[in-house]
Amino acid sequence: MARPSWEKQMRDAALATLDSKQWVKGTQVAGFGKEFADYCGVLGATPCQNGSSALWAALRIAGIGPGDEVIVPSFTFISSTTCVLLVGAKPVFVDIEPDYYCLDVQKVKQSITTDTKAVIGVHLFGQTYSSELVELCRKENLVLIEDAAQAHGARQTFANGDERIAGAMGDIGCFSFFPSKNMAVGGEGGMLTTTKPQFQDRIVGITNHGRSPDLEAIQLGSNLRMSEVSASIGRIQLHSLDKWLELRRHNAAEFTKALMTHPTLTAPKIRPKSKHAWHQYCVQTTEPDRFISHLDVLGIDARRYYTIPCHRQQVYIEHPQYNSTLVNTNKAANTLVAIPVMHELTESERNRIIAALVSFK
Ligand SMILES: Cc1ncc(COP(=O)(O)O)c(C=O)c1O
Repeated sequence: MARPSWEKQMRDAALATLDSKQWVKGTQVAGFGKEFADYCGVLGATPCQNGSSALWAALRIAGIGPGDEVIVPSFTFISSTTCVLLVGAKPVFVDIEPDYYCLDVQKVKQSITTDTKAVIGVHLFGQTYSSELVELCRKENLVLIEDAAQAHGARQTFANGDERIAGAMGDIGCFSFFPSKNMAVGGEGGMLTTTKPQFQDRIVGITNHGRSPDLEAIQLGSNLRMSEVSASIGRIQLHSLDKWLELRRHNAAEFTKALMTHPTLTAPKIRPKSKHAWHQYCVQTTEPDRFISHLDVLGIDARRYYTIPCHRQQVYIEHPQYNSTLVNTNKAANTLVAIPVMHELTESERNRIIAALVSFK
């Protein structure tokens, strides 16, 4: 399902950083933050330990805590929602769009109460959430935390014609560089981006014990810093991201072409005016397990996402929505199978996958 790139330039950068013995708090982390901010077209970007700590930090920066409600999807990776529990606030689970699997904006609107302080929008599988979500949060004065863990390089054109890239579609953006993601750093890693001047210094601070430049702890923070070696690898990977995205888009287009006339398998849709980052290519089928067995016999890896919606997991047993059903979430949980779409897929592997799709009856 995933095969991270590891090229000579990345190895050289990592070894040079180790040889320098500047292993933390150096020029690599500073350079990676600056280059990632430039790539996303945002005010600032701060490398950190992983996507989950980025989400926790984003909520802290936004001042979210006990008594506050945060609207989240349930059809996502668990840490998009448990970060809300970790700051003592209440996640409010909202259903997704049937076609794009991101938060349904109308349902978000209906779920806003006087306690709602923020929304965590997830660009799921690399598909950006709707630009209407951005508009709604602005109108309702809600902080929009952008979970871009799966969406490095995804793009969306807004009604005014502006094209924005993931990381620039909310108040605080959170990325993951887990090895399966569209770009990686040779271990755990994450990034916090922001478009808001009032958040930038606090983001830098929270990843470093909440300290000000003169080393006084002025906010609650922790050690969420990325290592220099990871940053040096990330900088090289970032150079290749757009090239890799084109390969993912090409793989996805070929799969979709092959599925156009398939009697039972349905290809994923792309939101109009967006450029999908294809972290995952999820085929819809009423027989996900039989489809996976079919691929398995042919030596092709495949995974179901996300079979237990977040609000139905044990950690939420005392949550008021634990026993409730979100219709589109349920349908997605029961029908989606991800097939390999990674940029490192060879042509012959892609053709083998296409043949396997076509031969599923
Ligand atoms: C949507 C989403 N959010 C958050 C995360 C958390 O990132 P990490 O694994 O780097 O903590 C992930 C990673 O799998 C993810 O897919």
